[in-house]
Amino acid sequence: MSFLKNKKALILGIASNRSIAWGIAKSMFDNGAELAFTYQNEKLKSRVEDLAKECNSSITIECDVSSPESIIKSKEELIKNWDEFDILVHSLAFAPKEELEGDYVSKTTKNGFETAHNISSFSLLELCQVYKSMLKGENPSVISLSYLGAVRGMPNYNVMGVAKASLEANMRYIAYSLGKDNIRVNCISAGPIKTLAAAGISDFRKMLDYVEKNSPLKRNVTIKEVGDTASFLASDFSSGITGQTIYVDSGFNIIGMPALE
Ligand SMILES: NC(=O)c1ccc[n+]([C@@H]2O[C@H](COP(=O)([O-])OP(=O)(O)OC[C@H]3O[C@@H](n4cnc5c(N)ncnc54)[C@H](O)[C@@H]3O)[C@@H](O)[C@H]2O)c1
Repeated sequence: MSFLKNKKALILGIASNRSIAWGIAKSMFDNGAELAFTYQNEKLKSRVEDLAKECNSSITIECDVSSPESIIKSKEELIKNWDEFDILVHSLAFAPKEELEGDYVSKTTKNGFETAHNISSFSLLELCQVYKSMLKGENPSVISLSYLGAVRGMPNYNVMGVAKASLEANMRYIAYSLGKDNIRVNCISAGPIKTLAAAGISDFRKMLDYVEKNSPLKRNVTIKEVGDTASFLASDFSSGITGQTIYVDSGFNIIGMPALE
C-alpha cells in the first residue's frame, strides 16, 4: 500500500526499536511516506541514525524540547532538506522517575509537576508554533501520544496522568486554532506497551497483565497497531478528523469492571 505516497513526516520520540515512534515511523514508511527524524541528545543520535537508515532516511536532527533554542535550531536544520512537510509526530513525554510511584498527594513536587507538563504537553504547542509555517500540503496532520491516565485515576502514573490531561486539552485547543489553516491535530491514547519510558513507571508489568486479562480483546497492543492508526490519522482518509483522542488499547477504556474469572 502507498496511501502516504508524496507525504513527508517528521518523527520525534525514537529512543529504541521498541519506541512507539518507531512503530509509527515503520508504518508510515511502509505506506509510502518520506521520513525525517529527531533525537533528544547525543546519546541517542547513532541509534536514531541506524533506524532512520532502515527507512531510507538520512535526515536526523537533534531536538531537545526542554530547550526553545533546540526546537528552533531543529527547524533550521530541517529546512535545509525540506521546504515543507505534511505530518508531525510528537511521541515523547518525561517526568522524573520518583514522581511515578507511590501516593500522588504525598509525593508530587512542584518541580516534577512543571517538568512533566513542560516536556509532555507544552512541547506540543511549542513545536506547532515553530513548525506551523512548514506544515503544508493537502491535509497536514499533527499526532501526539496519550494514555488513559489522562481521564482515569491510575496507581503510580500520578503527575504524568495530569500532564496527559493537559496534553489532550492542549491538543484540542491547537486543533481549534490550526483548523483554519487546514492543519489537523489528534492524539492516540495507546494501551500499555513495554518501552524505555514505560520502564520508569512502577509496577508496569502489572498494568500489562491487567489489560491482557480484562480488555475486550484480551491482549495488549503492539507498536505496529499504534503505528497503523497514526498512518490513518496522517492520511487523506482521515481528512475530516481533528481534535480527537483515538484509543488503541484493545478496548480497555470501555470496561466498567474487571473480568469475573
Ligand atoms: N509505552 C506506553 O505504555 C505508552 C502508553 C501510552 C502512551 N505512551 C506515550 O507514548 C510516547 C512515547 O513513549 P514510548 O513509550 O514510546 O517510550 P520511549 O522511551 O521509547 O520514547 C520516549 C521518548 O521521549 C523522548 N524525550 C523525553 N524527553 C525529551 C526531551 N526533553 N526532548 C525530546 N525528546 C524527549 C525520549 O528521547 C524518547 O525518544 C510518550 O508520550 C508516552 O507517554 C506510552
